[in-house]
Amino acid sequence: MATTARELFEHELRDAYDAEHRLVDSLKEMSSKVTDPELTKAFDLHREQTQRQIERLETVFSSIDFKPERESCKGIKGLITEFKEFTKEENSSTEVLNFFAAVSAKKVEHYEIVAYESLMQLARQLGLRDAQASLRENLAEELATADQLQGMSEKLLTELT
Ligand SMILES: [Fe+2]
Ligand SMILES: [Fe+2]
Repeated sequence: MATTARELFEHELRDAYDAEHRLVDSLKEMSSKVTDPELTKAFDLHREQTQRQIERLETVFSSIDFKPERESCKGIKGLITEFKEFTKEENSSTEVLNFFAAVSAKKVEHYEIVAYESLMQLARQLGLRDAQASLRENLAEELATADQLQGMSEKLLTELT
């Protein structure tokens, strides 16, 4: 049960920690499914960033004297499932799959952006300055990735028949 800003912060932190772990695996799978070299590169790069994001979240946990713990992030889990089921069931062309993967990744980034923005709001309210700094770095990477994927989706769109 969460009744305070601090408890909600801890809950959301565990949720983000779980989401980033799931995304390390998912970005690997997405990268292997697409054929556009730029998209593959973007997924691989963001996978490396995601590994560092996990480490930053661990510093946030330690800054509040908390052991890093995961709590199932059902939102990200759902977005990953959507991608998996589409690739399994739709028998799509490579062009469609490339565009769909870029858009699926963009959905994930926007989810993460809101998650980090709200964690930062709570950290600010709680006066957790160190936590804010780490969260800001993660947020900046998610924003840059969302922007990059937006550009790629525009390009991949032109390849659809
Ligand atoms: Fe992330
Ligand atoms: Fe991300």
